[in-house]
Amino acid sequence: MDEVLDKILENYFENDGNSLTILQDIEKSYGYIPEDAVCRISRKLDIPPSRFFGIATFYSQFHLKPRGKHIITVCRGTPCHVKGSEKILNRLQMELDIPRGEDTSEDLHFSVEEVNCVGACGLSPVVVINSQVQGQMSINRMIEEINKLRALD
Ligand code: FES
Repeated sequence: MDEVLDKILENYFENDGNSLTILQDIEKSYGYIPEDAVCRISRKLDIPPSRFFGIATFYSQFHLKPRGKHIITVCRGTPCHVKGSEKILNRLQMELDIPRGEDTSEDLHFSVEEVNCVGACGLSPVVVINSQVQGQMSINRMIEEINKLRALD
């Protein structure tokens, strides 16, 4: 971890960075914001960890827990809800064995997240699979997509 954090700090000093850019670099390096990384950076910069956690909890781009290798985002906006996004979401969580109240499978292969709108309402219900927007999703197609991802692992 130290080597990665040293590189992040190097970037911070070279490019006149700020707390936000440090967190972006940490998120990019680890896929989330490890508490230990924030504490180490805080000590090195003499900035209270609360400043970093305040930013990390404000912006949805940051994640405080490890995320899955594959990120599936189900749109929960009204048009998608009307077209069945809740059923897709429930089936996904069951299919991927994601515990109630959690968003990531225990094996860290999948994370299932929710979003209010991805700006493609005309294609509802919409699911984003590893950054690829897929419209007019159905439960059967969702299962096919999961199986494709499983075959890649
Ligand atoms: S509400 Fe789902 S894309 Fe807009």
